[in-house]
Amino acid sequence: MSRLQAFRGNYIDTPEYGILEKFSGYLIAEDGVIRDRRTELPDGWNGEMTDFGDAVVIPSFCDVHLHAGQYENIGIGYDHQLLEWLEKYTYPTEKKFYDLEYSKSIYKRLLRELWEVGTLHFISMCTASTDSTALFMDLIAESGLEAYVGKRNTDYQITTTDNEDTETSYLGTLQLLQEKGEQYENVRYILSPSFVPGCTEEMLGRLGRLAEKTMTPVQSHLDETLSEIQLVKDRFPEISSYAAVYEKYHIIGKSRTIMAHCNYIGDDEIRLLKKHHVMVAHCPCSNLDLGSGIMPLRKLKDAGLEIGLGSDISGGHTLNLATVMKTAVEVSKLRYLANPQESPATIPEALYLATKGGGAFWGNTGSFEKGYSFDALVICDEDTGRLNLQERLEKFIYAGDYRQIKARYLKGVRLDRPCFSE
Ligand code: GUN
Ligand code: FE
Repeated sequence: MSRLQAFRGNYIDTPEYGILEKFSGYLIAEDGVIRDRRTELPDGWNGEMTDFGDAVVIPSFCDVHLHAGQYENIGIGYDHQLLEWLEKYTYPTEKKFYDLEYSKSIYKRLLRELWEVGTLHFISMCTASTDSTALFMDLIAESGLEAYVGKRNTDYQITTTDNEDTETSYLGTLQLLQEKGEQYENVRYILSPSFVPGCTEEMLGRLGRLAEKTMTPVQSHLDETLSEIQLVKDRFPEISSYAAVYEKYHIIGKSRTIMAHCNYIGDDEIRLLKKHHVMVAHCPCSNLDLGSGIMPLRKLKDAGLEIGLGSDISGGHTLNLATVMKTAVEVSKLRYLANPQESPATIPEALYLATKGGGAFWGNTGSFEKGYSFDALVICDEDTGRLNLQERLEKFIYAGDYRQIKARYLKGVRLDRPCFSE
């Protein structure tokens, strides 16, 4: 017997980029999947009924780029730029995750905060520790959130830190893929080469072959800062671009790929990403906090690229995607001042990026259209009657608070604050 549910509410979503759709009435779900929308409850309805009253209901957020092992570093180290910050803050902190008790305490806090801020889907690049990444996958499974998770592969000395060697790093990845890849429905594995300056050619080649053979998705970083791009040019002078290095080693081009940042992406690279259906993780908070750059959002969107939003903690200082949305709009306005042909982003566009845009990595979340999973945030404010629905959304994004999120639904089921067995 299937589970039939009716949810009455004031819904806002963005079925198309930048087009805000408002609907007050009933969404009808069967086994958590939206099947219909009605202004009245169907005659003789005998399924369940939930009434959200005056609340504003939006799709739950998808954070398509974060680093779980950097959670405790949120808010510190931003007087340094990327490469220095990686060496001084990130790698030393990520090393601590070989300690599993420590990992567990951090990962539980992270999962609770993701739940709090309304992020029910996320993609995480974890640390180099295989066991800690496995533990994180177990904890996510318990939390009920939906995620893609991968162990960071770094085997190239860009700094003085002691990286894993190629074999250890690769075998750890293989182990996770084999032992954990199919264990949970809500947690999947994603291959995670750190970035070109952090990987040997051997590592990129092995991961690319693994992606091709197993069709496992891949995540990495691309064109985040000018100094990182210079490192790639110095190492691969014969290859035309940073993205072309990934393509050569099949990090891009075989399985589904997502690349974070793309601040300095060239026209050839945009075409390459488009050709291979690569999703871009736009991380505007991180780009500001580390002084990395401003991604040409309008240009990438006009070129037809798929784009989602990433907090990129702890490159970014917040897990709250409402803040990341607002920042995406703000930096696009700054960019517009210097590039008048690139019109700034709007709140409906930012909402799309945070929901359906990033949700495309899963394929069935981020929108209230038929066939989508009922994944929603119920937002209660004090502005009923005074502001219209769009204004209430704007206020929540710019000046609201995650504590206004009174309920979260995933696949039609109300999701409680994660509580763990030990
Ligand atoms: N490039 C390689 N590793 C990282 C990382 O951890 N964070 C960011 N922002 N960029 C990276
Ligand atoms: Fe990152």
